[in-house]
Amino acid sequence: MEKIILNLNCSSIEQKEIDSFQPTLLKVVAEMNKLYNGSLGWIYAPSVWQKEVKKIQKVKDRIKKQSQAVVVIGIGGSYLGARAIIESLKDDKEEIAIHFCGNNLSADYLSTVVKKIEGKDFSVIVISKSGTTIEPAISFRFMRKMLMDKYGSDFNKRIFAITDAKKGILRKMSDQFSYDTLPIPGDIGGRYSVLTSVGLLPIALADINIEELLRGAADAQKHLYAINHDNIAFQYAVARNILHKKGKLIEIFCNYEPRLSFLAEWWKQLFGESEGKDHKGLFPASANYTTDLHSLGQYVQDGPRHLFETIINIKEPIKNLIIPEDDTKDGLDFVEGKSLDFINKQAYLGAIKAHVDGGVPNIVFDVPKLTPYYIGYLIYTLELSCAISGYLLGVNPFDQPGVEQYKKNMMSLLDNSTS
Ligand code: PA5
Repeated sequence: MEKIILNLNCSSIEQKEIDSFQPTLLKVVAEMNKLYNGSLGWIYAPSVWQKEVKKIQKVKDRIKKQSQAVVVIGIGGSYLGARAIIESLKDDKEEIAIHFCGNNLSADYLSTVVKKIEGKDFSVIVISKSGTTIEPAISFRFMRKMLMDKYGSDFNKRIFAITDAKKGILRKMSDQFSYDTLPIPGDIGGRYSVLTSVGLLPIALADINIEELLRGAADAQKHLYAINHDNIAFQYAVARNILHKKGKLIEIFCNYEPRLSFLAEWWKQLFGESEGKDHKGLFPASANYTTDLHSLGQYVQDGPRHLFETIINIKEPIKNLIIPEDDTKDGLDFVEGKSLDFINKQAYLGAIKAHVDGGVPNIVFDVPKLTPYYIGYLIYTLELSCAISGYLLGVNPFDQPGVEQYKKNMMSLLDNSTS
């Protein structure tokens, strides 16, 4: 089976620089388990959750039987991974409409979701490990009221809570109102939780094969959670660490397939929350090419030389098109009969050469195809890279103390307000 390859040819990094990290990597892996014990459930999540697939499929079947639409409530690690995988892999024939909310505080956004489900049979999946996050909690209030108004005392049969197995307000509410629940393991932090119930139930509802997703991730777990020379997770962590030390401050995660734009949102949270602390860390940014070659392209080519790009290159697209003949004289006859993906690939090759020549190193993940297997493999690879990268940087990649500050300010403003 073709593998995902990490291509460092355009990264301006030499193999010997990567190899020099071997002793450090050995230490990192040895320390990983003992240093942050209690936050490392994600390492074995793929093989653990392979055993839970049947349970998740059963819940999915129940939801599908009773609903035309499902509202998935959650934010941050309780939202981004599921949406990233759904957007990356969904096909056009959605059997059930999936709407996301609880990921912002916009009244306009929530009103639009409410409008979309009005008159439809719907169920709600509420995902929150703590149960106290204000964005999902507020959306959940609205959705609960809608369910109560529509279904009366049976409202609780349409609520599925994914939360901590033992503690938290959502767990208490689930017990009190008899919601169906799936657990979030206590030893897995939000942004590392997509390969658990948190991601798997919404992803299964989008008719994406979660067995294949987990098979890919479990293969990555087997291949990559070990020191070996062609370990793409370690190489990526080391490469970005080397570029950071050479003065790069911003990493742009780029794609040439619009359906991957949410994968970049997930990646930004993963690396941003894991590394941005103690005044350290690369700033994780993203770009959707070729669209953004016509906006950010100028800055990437000619702006300050503090960036590098990491590209997800999908070798074979889900769909392809042949460019038809056309008698309008637009001067582009040379594209006729060629595939659109071939043109996309020439844009990718052209941009990589231009950016590298302009002083922007490029790291490339060559992904054979967009399938659940390869996305599962890629997700695990990036999670492991992120953990290793945090260790190389000298920060704890599993906490997020900085996120609390805005919450404290908001709560005190809310406490003091009258309207
Ligand atoms: O990665 C994290 O831990 C965070 O992004 C959380 O997932 C996010 O804040 C949501 O938290 P909760 O699931 O407790 O509502």
